[in-house]
Amino acid sequence: MRPVFTDSPWFGGDYNPEQWPEAVWDEDVDLMRGAGVNLVTVGVFAWALLEPEEGRYEFGWLDSVLDLLHENGVKVDLATATAAPPPWLSDQYPESLPVTVDGIRLSPGSRQGYCPSSPAYRTAARRLTRTLAERYGAHPAVVLWHINNEYGCHVSRCYCDESASAFRRWLEAKYRTIGALNSAWGTAFWSQSYGSFEQILPPRATPAFPNPTQSLDFDRFSSDELLACFLEEKAVLREVTPDIPVTTNFMGTFRNVDYWTWAPHVDVISDDLYPDPADPDAARGAAMARDLMRSLGRGKPWLLMEQSTSAVNMRPTNVPKAPGQMRALSYQALARGADGILFFQWRQSAAGAERFHSAMLPHAGTDTRIWREVEQLGAELAALGSVVGTRTRAHAALVFDWDSRWAIEQAGLPTTSSYLALAAHWHAALTEAGLTVDLAPGDEDLSAYPIVIVPSLFVLTDAQAAAIDAAAAAGSTVLVTSQTGIVDQDLRVRLGGYLGDLQSTLGVWIEEFWPLGGAWARPGAIPVAQESTVAPTVRVRGDVFGPEAATGIEWSECVHVRDASVRAVFEGGHLSGWPALTRKARGVGAAWYLATRLSREDTASLVAQLIADSGLALSASVVGGESGFVETVQRGDALFVINHGSTAVTLAQEGVDLLSGADAQGMTLEPQGVVVISPRVALDSAEPAVAVVAAG
Ligand code: GLA
Repeated sequence: MRPVFTDSPWFGGDYNPEQWPEAVWDEDVDLMRGAGVNLVTVGVFAWALLEPEEGRYEFGWLDSVLDLLHENGVKVDLATATAAPPPWLSDQYPESLPVTVDGIRLSPGSRQGYCPSSPAYRTAARRLTRTLAERYGAHPAVVLWHINNEYGCHVSRCYCDESASAFRRWLEAKYRTIGALNSAWGTAFWSQSYGSFEQILPPRATPAFPNPTQSLDFDRFSSDELLACFLEEKAVLREVTPDIPVTTNFMGTFRNVDYWTWAPHVDVISDDLYPDPADPDAARGAAMARDLMRSLGRGKPWLLMEQSTSAVNMRPTNVPKAPGQMRALSYQALARGADGILFFQWRQSAAGAERFHSAMLPHAGTDTRIWREVEQLGAELAALGSVVGTRTRAHAALVFDWDSRWAIEQAGLPTTSSYLALAAHWHAALTEAGLTVDLAPGDEDLSAYPIVIVPSLFVLTDAQAAAIDAAAAAGSTVLVTSQTGIVDQDLRVRLGGYLGDLQSTLGVWIEEFWPLGGAWARPGAIPVAQESTVAPTVRVRGDVFGPEAATGIEWSECVHVRDASVRAVFEGGHLSGWPALTRKARGVGAAWYLATRLSREDTASLVAQLIADSGLALSASVVGGESGFVETVQRGDALFVINHGSTAVTLAQEGVDLLSGADAQGMTLEPQGVVVISPRVALDSAEPAVAVVAAG
């Protein structure tokens, strides 16, 4: 297979010339050349123009576009165009439209209007893919296939009758017998025992909580069903164009698709990410998404397929990116392993649903801030060939698991949780401490990481318990947080004090959950009090947090210690004096357990303790002011330092800034400032490169 990444990072975006008269195309390629664009994604939403009637194709315009791009040295990521079925498909095959949980069949007139299980949709998608592959597979501009687009973005669950049949087939393949399914789903509860697979439906709207395992299986099925769509198109492409790699664009930490199961099937991991400029934590969250992309490819370079140059149009209010912010976020992706920076889209649309979404070339033309920033980034990336293909070094692993995510967000649990928020909290704390974090499914070897964090791994498999234990035994400092190991993969409770096999790793067991506060929010509560009468926080006291008590938030639980040392206790409330934080020496490593959620500040104290416990030494601290986040990432020989904060910082690191050619040491880095420092600092000891001090 041909390599996708070559000598300099890819730079470009979605190119939708079909929205414009041909006269504009020449200007497009002239401007692309000027801006250093070398890769564009073509045809993502062009199905209706490519196949205006079933089986009748109009390729003339696409022939011209690809030739024009080729003549101008721009390579193409060619879409299979199957993400937005044309009106004729739903007209002729109305059953191909998706149905919501409430039984509403969605209408055409938007995009992604297909049921992933629809035979009519799948047949049409395969046919279009084959026709495109046969026509353009040998075109010299085409370097990558872009299968579909953002699978599951709008329709990730379909509840129609065809989906129901497909779900039954999936269940039959998984369980073989209806008895096995009844046992796994615990259908003895609430009179749900099934006599045959034929009786089973998707978890459509129900009078009370649906069966939890049925719901989780439907989540798994739905992710697999979209993957099956991807694999059908991929099989066609492999057959016709075996040398051209394929991608499909992921969506960061998207909830509804389990990217761990997808990643092995994708030749090049690619991502779409739209951090909200109005969110002061946007760069922190984005760092996690980038780390996920690198980790999905097991460290291989990936492609930032889409981001915005400035404002999007999908939020109630769409704040533009601050001057320099697009550049800073682009370098964040590069630092964290991307070998290409692309945008949605090349030219801002004049019509259609996304005409107020920014683009590389804005409505106002080239005498604009956005265009100047695009030109600057294109020129800089062209000179950063030395980064392409190099690896980003990580110091810690964060276990991130879609089964746990889906399960902990179901109804009928001790509290409501956002799994992403629980995990992102730890990712941000590690990142702010100067560590780079890989994400991991948790059932593979973790022992190479000095630090392993396991946030609320609600569904714990035996393989995950074994990998976590093995990491601690081999020397990792492992932290497991509350609500881990509560159930097995069938969502059956792990009896006898929760945590499963991790009880012996951690030396603790749990008697009872004690979530804090929030009683007023419970549906059905008589609303006598306007506010919670129970404080949603609890004091936590221990050396780790210094002389002041730490703040436990939303959650506590009654922990019994078997053979661990107690490092902090709850103070006040019903659990006063009971363990809140424990540590057990396990093999040559350590296994910590945290029985609450901590404030940001207290989390930082615990992270510092874990770093000390692991033997990693911080050479300096990152200081960026109140809302500051100064990001430091080592990729290959280069140290990226990016100031996402609101105050300037001064660099203490020796070396040359590859972007400006200036000496890095003593340099002032303004907000949104970026330096890429070479040569590398000595990191052989796996110590984080932290090279920033506060200005003044
Ligand atoms: C997604 C899609 C694009 C576009 C952008 C807008 O990433 O793939 O087609 O809709 O969102 O942000």
